[in-house]
Amino acid sequence: MARHRPERAICDKDGARAPHALELLPALPWLRAALRATCDDGAGQTPSVLYNQGSPLPRSCRMTRRLQERLLAIMDRKNHWAWAHLTGPGLTRDQLAVHFRHEYRVYVRDFPVLLARVLGQSPPAAVRSALAENLFEEQTGKLSLGVSHPALFLEMIDGLGIPRAAIEDESLPLEPEAHAYRALLDHASAAPPWVVGAAVLTIFVEGSVHERAELLGQREAPPIEEALRAHPMVRHYGCPPERMRLARAHRAVEGGHRQDAWEMVLGHAPDEGPMAEAVASAVAAAHAAWLAYRDGVARAMGLRQA
Ligand SMILES: [Fe+2]
Repeated sequence: MARHRPERAICDKDGARAPHALELLPALPWLRAALRATCDDGAGQTPSVLYNQGSPLPRSCRMTRRLQERLLAIMDRKNHWAWAHLTGPGLTRDQLAVHFRHEYRVYVRDFPVLLARVLGQSPPAAVRSALAENLFEEQTGKLSLGVSHPALFLEMIDGLGIPRAAIEDESLPLEPEAHAYRALLDHASAAPPWVVGAAVLTIFVEGSVHERAELLGQREAPPIEEALRAHPMVRHYGCPPERMRLARAHRAVEGGHRQDAWEMVLGHAPDEGPMAEAVASAVAAAHAAWLAYRDGVARAMGLRQA
């Protein structure tokens, strides 16, 4: 569950008061409506690029090309201006701690629980298996390295020389947009229909801006040892590669989980109609809340957009 802090005024460096999470939440229905309109742009195009070029997704799945394209158009924009700072040199340990504290407490620590809520809504058997496998790996790591992903995340924190308390301590505040994003994840994972929660968690949260290229087989990952050496936390901040086992675990399982994510959503949401609208608008709302969350973290880190 989201742990909401008592109401407080938060000021950025210019003294402007940042909005509290409770002020942001009522905006979400409006946001959803606005983003639904955005989602519909170009949605009438057929067929999707995936079908024209040969999708790696199995034909046995009841493919919903229009919905897939709407979701991919959102994932194409899962990017934030502060990412250039986070993947480059020059951040202090305190700035890194702010970033990782938010990531850990907003969704990394509790991702298995969020998945469990979707599973608890009694989806069809094949979806239960896919969610259970994902949940099992996230909570135990026993499909890869035998360590849970939240624990592997903290190994990286150790490697960076950041005290774990700076990440885990519940008395350290999170930005209001972080609470709002977490509230959205809590709602999407716990409220029916299950396919909306599955889309938000497994397509949006677990997916990346590279989703389209990966589905098309156009993104070749370098060998893991090379990828670890090039990782910004290793290259710029001195994290020993052996403390980056989270990246190894993700490499071991991510292909199967990406495939499962698209199959479980596209296989159970019709291409058009209320369910398709619910899935697309929830993912669009997650994207908007995530962008606001990243804005809040960047503000707390003292970063400024160039
Ligand atoms: Fe993970």
